[in-house]
Amino acid sequence: MSAVAVVPGSFDPITLGHLDVIERAARLFDEVYVVVVHNPDKPGGLFSADERVAVIEKAVADAGLPANVKVDSFGSGLLADYCTRLGATALVKGLRSQTDVVYETPMAIVNEHLAGVETVFLLPRPANAQVSSTLVRQVIGLGGDVSPYVPAAVLEAVGSR
Ligand code: PNS
Repeated sequence: MSAVAVVPGSFDPITLGHLDVIERAARLFDEVYVVVVHNPDKPGGLFSADERVAVIEKAVADAGLPANVKVDSFGSGLLADYCTRLGATALVKGLRSQTDVVYETPMAIVNEHLAGVETVFLLPRPANAQVSSTLVRQVIGLGGDVSPYVPAAVLEAVGSR
C-alpha cells in the first residue's frame, strides 16, 4: 500500500519554506498532495485559489520536484474528510516557532481524532525559519523585494498583474 500525504495550507503565496517542506515530504511519502485550502480566518488574499494552484504547479515544476507531487484545492469542508477520500494517512506541515506550535497543535489533535490522520511536523531550514506568506504579502504590498523568500513563479505572477 502506498503512503499518501497531504501538505495543506493557504499558500497565499507559496514561499521557499513551503517548497522545502513539499520537497522533503516527497522523499518521505509515495504520493504528496499539495492542497490549497480556503481558510476563513484569512479572508481577501493576494491570489485567488486557482491562481495559487497555478503558481504552486509552476514552482513545483521549476524546482524539478518528482512526479509524486500533485497540486489540488478545495473550498469548503473538513480537511480530515478530504484526506479520507484521498486515502491519505498523514498531513505534513512546517513548524517554525512556538506560535506555530500553539496554532498547529489543536488542528493536529482534531484531525487525528476525526479521521485518524497523523500530522508530521518538519522543522525549517535556518534560511526559511522566519519566512511567512503574511510577511511576503506585506512586503509585496509595500513594493519591497520578496525574491529571497518565494519561488520565481510567485514573482512572475505578481509581475504579470
Ligand atoms: O496556511 P494556513 O492558512 O495556516 O492553513 C490552515 C489550514 C487551511 C490548513 C486549516 O485552516 C485547515 O485545515 N482548514 C480546513 C478546514 C478544517 O478541516 N478545519 C478543522 C481543522 S482541525
